[in-house]
Amino acid sequence: MIRGILVAGALVAGLSTVSAVMAQSDPITERQQAMKGLSQAARAPGAMLKGEAPFDLATVQTTLKTFADTAKAGPALFPDNSKTGHDTAALPAVWTNKADFNMQFAKFGEAAVAAQASIKDEASFKANFPNVLKTCGGCHETYRAKKS
Ligand code: HEC
Repeated sequence: MIRGILVAGALVAGLSTVSAVMAQSDPITERQQAMKGLSQAARAPGAMLKGEAPFDLATVQTTLKTFADTAKAGPALFPDNSKTGHDTAALPAVWTNKADFNMQFAKFGEAAVAAQASIKDEASFKANFPNVLKTCGGCHETYRAKKS
């Protein structure tokens, strides 16, 4: 079932955009939408990594651009007045540890930009893309509440 959903998701992932998200005015909703955009963008390359979809360089590069753009926009989506409400899963550490939190966005962006340059074919994709995904988990580990 989950596999089916992933494959279906891979087909529509190319259509996702971050820009529709930016029309929202509430920063918590905005960042949750931006994060959803990241996982949507990650879906097609994820299927390629697992061999469930053929490698497609253009799709991978589009995903990496979404990652890089979102990394740049990220810190501004966590203003001081957005610590609570809207079922936010952002932990208080985001604000008590702001410099490190922002650095996690910077690392994520750097990993995406580095991958844009180094991924040229399927082999370099398989070697480099997982490192970018690791930076998602690296930030969630410390700054996002685990959903039960
Ligand atoms: C710099 C830290 C950071 C990075 C990097 C990061 N995230 Fe997140 N992510 C968060 C935080 C914090 C939340 C909780 C936001 C909230 O609920 O207010 C979150 C929430 C999410 C959510 C849940 C959104 C919802 O529906 O509420 C998803 C999905 C997600 N992230 C995916 C990703 C993916 C995929 C990547 C990498 C491609 C990524 N994130 C990179 C910090 C990060």
